[in-house]
Amino acid sequence: MKKVIFSGIQPSGDLTLGNYIGALKQFGQFQDEYDCYYCIVDEHAITVPQDRLKLRQQTRSLAALYLAVGLDPAKSTLFIQSEVAAHAQAAWILQCNIYIGELERMTQFKDKSAGKAGVSTGLLTYPPLMAADILLYQTDLVPVGEDQKQHIELTRDVAERFNKKHNEVFKIPEIYVPKQGARVMSLQEPTKKMSKSDENRKSAIYLLDPPNTIIKKIKSAVTDSEGIVKYDKENKPGISNLLSIYSALTDRSIAELENAYDGKGYGDFKADLAEIVAAELTPIQERYHAFLASKELDTILDEGAEKAARVANKTLHKMENAMGLGRKRR
Ligand code: TYM
Repeated sequence: MKKVIFSGIQPSGDLTLGNYIGALKQFGQFQDEYDCYYCIVDEHAITVPQDRLKLRQQTRSLAALYLAVGLDPAKSTLFIQSEVAAHAQAAWILQCNIYIGELERMTQFKDKSAGKAGVSTGLLTYPPLMAADILLYQTDLVPVGEDQKQHIELTRDVAERFNKKHNEVFKIPEIYVPKQGARVMSLQEPTKKMSKSDENRKSAIYLLDPPNTIIKKIKSAVTDSEGIVKYDKENKPGISNLLSIYSALTDRSIAELENAYDGKGYGDFKADLAEIVAAELTPIQERYHAFLASKELDTILDEGAEKAARVANKTLHKMENAMGLGRKRR
């Protein structure tokens, strides 16, 4: 039997180069060897307020992006989380096996709730839903960026706890983070993560940015006044971030890049990087627009949801049996 991959992305705004390098770009490489499930996690998106029409449009847009980066529905199961009811059902059962203290400790919850009035319960119970996503498919490997590490650790903890306390239901998943670009930083404040929700649009490259915008954003990325292309995360966070982006997109090591730009200034380096990023994203954008306009998209998502539900329901029934919910099911 093939090993299983699961990952998800929220349709909560325009995807960034961080989402691409940390997650999306990784997804395709597993398709031949693994049984892959790639989900659009719209139920996670509503933990903060969303405009209903925009959310629908972003969900569709993300499905088209999945296809545009090369995910093949003949090999990978692509689906929308809210269309597979087992996710919310399993999340409830997991919530009853996770302590409030564990959820309050999550840094993402602390960051997103800090200083805000009217924080939804969903923001706190977001990790059990994520654990449900992963555990329902008996997942072996979860490709994500570094910011999801704490959530995956909690997923492993709750799976182990459930197996011990109730019955051996879950496979214990492992995290997979890329060697370069697991945490792409903001172009304007390179000590902060590049994020879809940053108000400063110059801080992120969006996957659908036109080439001239990409070039402008990279040229105006904050660096330092030393003018030496060298990786030093502490003292030169800006140039170090650009070096990791460059390395992630070209598979050239940081050392090789430092050598290649020895004696050259930031101008040359940024101009080359801007071209590399634009060349990477332009063909994706072309395919994206074609998929978005196609009818195929709905068929792919219908079939994906059907297949995902079949697999997820098997685990859900095992969970229900293990806890004595309802009548015994097979
Ligand atoms: P989300 O939607 O915030 O981000 C999607 C993916 O992009 C990665 N990422 C980054 N990687 C590198 N540098 C960055 N600056 C950067 N910003 C984002 C994220 O790590 C993630 O892999 N909770 C998840 C979605 C989710 C999920 C799941 C993931 C729900 N259920 C099950 C895996 C498995 C999230 O909010 O990702």
